[in-house]
Amino acid sequence: MDAILLAAGKGTRINAENPKQFIKIAGKPMFIYSLEALRKSKYIDTIYLTCNPLHLNLYKEILTNYAIERVVLVEGGDSRQQSVYKALLEAKSNRIIIHEGARPLISTDFIEEIISQDQQDGVIPTMPISFSIIEGEQFIEKELVRSRLHNIQLPQLFDREKLLNAHKKAIKDDYQTTEDGMLLFHYGGKVKLVKGRESNIKVTTPLDIEIVEKLIKLG
Ligand code: CTP
Ligand code: MG
Repeated sequence: MDAILLAAGKGTRINAENPKQFIKIAGKPMFIYSLEALRKSKYIDTIYLTCNPLHLNLYKEILTNYAIERVVLVEGGDSRQQSVYKALLEAKSNRIIIHEGARPLISTDFIEEIISQDQQDGVIPTMPISFSIIEGEQFIEKELVRSRLHNIQLPQLFDREKLLNAHKKAIKDDYQTTEDGMLLFHYGGKVKLVKGRESNIKVTTPLDIEIVEKLIKLG
């Protein structure tokens, strides 16, 4: 099966010199952790890496340094959703695993646990929410019941054609979302929830970098 690794963002919320995926954590560019974990799985053939077109040479240089094979560079789009769509068009396999470079604490073991799930339209790992969430701007506008909410993680497994068709409909409808499980559900897909991992932290802010670096150094 092919894999997509999303690493075409700008990292505006981290506001570093280069985009977030290039930030070194314990000496290694962040997206390389995910790339190495995917590459170690015997189930994964080609990895489609979405790249920020302004930095193509930097990706190539880093890939050469770390000698990671069977990686195809795909120029990403302006949004995460557009980057996924472009990579889905390039990928070949019936089932596809999608991960994001901003989650470097992923393991090959966890990737293979997701791959081993039964055939469904989509399979997404989630964690329970440990805090309370409400909707609103200046005032509370809506209550949400924590016990029914889920924190969505990656890697995620999809039927590639079903996800691609959902993306095509989303383009027609100008429907935008932040994640593919929801996008597939929106267009009628059956998306299974499986258990995520607490350590599978998403790096969004400078504090996340510090936390992840400490965890990596602890081994
Ligand atoms: N991503 C992508 N293409 C985009 C935007 C994001 O491939 N146009 C990728 C990012 O590189 C990241 C993942 O999608 O691995 C999740 O996105 P996010 O954490 O939001 O990263 P950025 O968009 O880079 O950060 P920010 O939103 O703070 O600008
Ligand atoms: Mg973003």
